[in-house]
Amino acid sequence: MRTFNAPGRLDLSTEMLLLPACFRPSLRITLFKPFLWTNIAAKNKSSRSLSFPIVRASSVSTFSTASEAAVMAQDGPINQHPLQVAKRLEKFKTTIFTQMSSLAIKHNAINLGQGFPNFDGPDFVKDAAIQAIKDGKNQYARGYGIPDLNSAIASRFQKDTGITIDPESEITVTSGCTEAIAATILGLINPGDEVILFAPFYDSYEATLSMAGAKITCITLQPPDFALPLEKLKSKISKNTRAILLNTPHNPTGKMFTKEELEQISLLCIENDVLVFSDEVYDKLAFEMDHISIASLPGMYERTVTMNSLGKTFSLTGWKIGWAIAPPHLLWGVKQAHSYLTFATSTPMQYAAAVALNAPDSYYEELRKDYKGKKEILVDGLKAVGFKVFPSSGTYFVVVDHTPFGLPDDVAFCEYLIKEVGVVAIPTSVFYLDKEEGKNLVRFTFCKDEGTLRSAVERMKERLVKK
Ligand SMILES: Cc1ncc(COP(=O)(O)O)c(C=O)c1O
Repeated sequence: MRTFNAPGRLDLSTEMLLLPACFRPSLRITLFKPFLWTNIAAKNKSSRSLSFPIVRASSVSTFSTASEAAVMAQDGPINQHPLQVAKRLEKFKTTIFTQMSSLAIKHNAINLGQGFPNFDGPDFVKDAAIQAIKDGKNQYARGYGIPDLNSAIASRFQKDTGITIDPESEITVTSGCTEAIAATILGLINPGDEVILFAPFYDSYEATLSMAGAKITCITLQPPDFALPLEKLKSKISKNTRAILLNTPHNPTGKMFTKEELEQISLLCIENDVLVFSDEVYDKLAFEMDHISIASLPGMYERTVTMNSLGKTFSLTGWKIGWAIAPPHLLWGVKQAHSYLTFATSTPMQYAAAVALNAPDSYYEELRKDYKGKKEILVDGLKAVGFKVFPSSGTYFVVVDHTPFGLPDDVAFCEYLIKEVGVVAIPTSVFYLDKEEGKNLVRFTFCKDEGTLRSAVERMKERLVKK
């Protein structure tokens, strides 16, 4: 059995057991059988020993996760064939969130790792989705979004930023913010273009930039406050920089970029003619200060793509409704990429998303109040356990220094925490280009009900010992 000893590497046998039946070998093989039999025989002379056709449709990987591959390997013949993946994705492994959530199930651990609520979204939004389905809103939507949703997004943006936009030419609805990120990068970044990222960063940025062939320049935000290192940014940004990828409120640290920091970034972008791709999925989870969209600063709207989604704010992370907002000349590229990535996203969910975004302010106030209570339970609890907790102004995450407990790095600590304590956290090294930089930090989420948060804290109080 392999041991879990590095980010992205996992005791694969644990995940195998947890795969839903639909991923198990028999079904997949049945599905691909007619197509593969001849293909593989023709392509691969050494496949004589195969007792069954193996899933291989092309020269790219056919497995969406390493665990799926492992399941196939366990089944027999596939282990004669190395996993395949295009070079642009070679360095990326099964996401840490999948790995940790799987381990959580195996060890019956309380999952404060992956950022999905363990409570449901509001009834008025779910009812709107059910109604839309019953009303027959079930065929392809307009590619860039149903008119109702584009209008609701434009109204919310106007309310939040004071900027009036045209819902038809300045918004593209996507499958979650993840697709907005992909469409923005693939639609506006050429191979070799230089893009600045702030580490730690949300994991899809690096992978998507890699798919686009971008050249990544990374600037690290340092604890305790993860402040903008202005001199560093000045030394890295130039006329050769195509874009900066910004995330505020920031996952994993909970940092919110201050007005002053955003102004400093803006001035440098204008001076060097640089675009900003701003991921604001946690904009409504701002606790210690008001969220500011960089697009609202002078001279910035025309060079910014603002990306957002429904999932975090409405506790509906599985719906994957997102959007990108940009002036028409930038949105064109985003729209083009979106057209060929997914073309359109789920029609009934878009109708429901329009209803959600028209929610009164009281909805957002309640949400914040509720999350503030949860945050207090977790932060106070983590401090009482003995962690050094770094301040988090927004998102539903907090980052702590785990070193008082004597484990060599963040991955070892998280493995220990799951197996011996029964709590899941996320090792932050996965959010850095240089993994060493994140080795003292782990991230906890408080998007769980209060009972779960209290139980997790109790377990840590009982079982975690300072070394
Ligand atoms: C910073 C950040 N951006 C984007 C996403 C993805 O959003 P969505 O689920 O809408 O694709 C996440 C999800 O965790 C996130 O943390």
